[in-house]
Amino acid sequence: MTKSYRVAILGATGAVGTELLELLEQRNFPVSDLKLLASERSVGRTLQFKGENLPIESVSDRAFENVDLVLASAGGSTSKTWAAIAVEKGAVVIDNSSAFRMNPEVPLVVPEVNPQAAANHQGIIANPNCTTILMAVAVWPLHQVKSVQRIVAATYQSASGAGAKAMAEVKNQANAILQGHSPVAEVLPYPLAFNLFPHNSPLNDFGYCEEEMKMVNETRKIFGTQEIRITATCVRVPVLRAHSEAINLEFEEPFSPDEARDILSRSPGVKLLEDWESNYFPMPIEATGKDEVLVGRIRQDISHPHGLELWLCGDQIRKGAALNAVQIAELLVEKNLLKPAQVYVSR
Ligand code: A2P
Repeated sequence: MTKSYRVAILGATGAVGTELLELLEQRNFPVSDLKLLASERSVGRTLQFKGENLPIESVSDRAFENVDLVLASAGGSTSKTWAAIAVEKGAVVIDNSSAFRMNPEVPLVVPEVNPQAAANHQGIIANPNCTTILMAVAVWPLHQVKSVQRIVAATYQSASGAGAKAMAEVKNQANAILQGHSPVAEVLPYPLAFNLFPHNSPLNDFGYCEEEMKMVNETRKIFGTQEIRITATCVRVPVLRAHSEAINLEFEEPFSPDEARDILSRSPGVKLLEDWESNYFPMPIEATGKDEVLVGRIRQDISHPHGLELWLCGDQIRKGAALNAVQIAELLVEKNLLKPAQVYVSR
């Protein structure tokens, strides 16, 4: 007899929510009961899980009764409203929003990097920002061998980071432009099709946007050090669902590209993809739908003897969000970190 769990997905109709549903099925997560929660707008709709049509319910206090695990991806304000209630009712919440990520009492977990942090949870575990997860998976194995002193990142972020409606908007904009019409921007601040713009999250007094500061602060929290200097420029590009990142790393001593290649070729969650002869390296269309972070174009930084350059692409909805959350859930199951009182045995 295997233990199985009563699971709720909060934000089940969204870009990440639907992927969570798919991943629970694909990875055969031990689900005994699944609740799909979203806003009032979605009541009456159904979504398929293991061949069964499940109704969408609107979120309420009662929705979290008899639930062991909540996978939340319905935005920060929704998480702030419901996470504590879900925990009070006895569930563990894995939250995809930024609401609790920097709370010192909430573990921020990338299973390939800091799985041990999950053990300290007090009901809520935060899933990091998507660009941060992808960078952390690629940089951590190198940092284990020679310590990283400074990271300079530039991101090329897909529309999916702004949700399912933003993805649909980019397609509509492309259609409009191809038919000679003006693109309409309602979800995103500016037309993204055939365009790009600096990430539109709020700016701080130093001119950094929130997304950039997430990369700085969350990476330090996940790596367990405040010592690494990190700077980033985040840009939204007209790609549907995989992010790309150009990353410059400065180590305490020289790090040969071949050694980095050798390490990354054996690192969990990473796939090395380089064909220098045909100039073939990771692309968002190839990362789409894949679990691994594709890494390539590893080269010596000619401007610094201790510098390495690398390029990566990763599926924003998958490893950048839903897959990482499901991997955290699997970790909780494996380490028995879903409280035993909340577990019951399936027949
Ligand atoms: P709904 O489809 O009913 O609006 P995305 O990130 O792709 O935009 O998805 C956001 C998800 O969060 C959707 O499932 C959406 O449900 C859900 N959501 C948004 N606001 C709320 C809310 N106030 N209460 C519950 N779910 C919400």
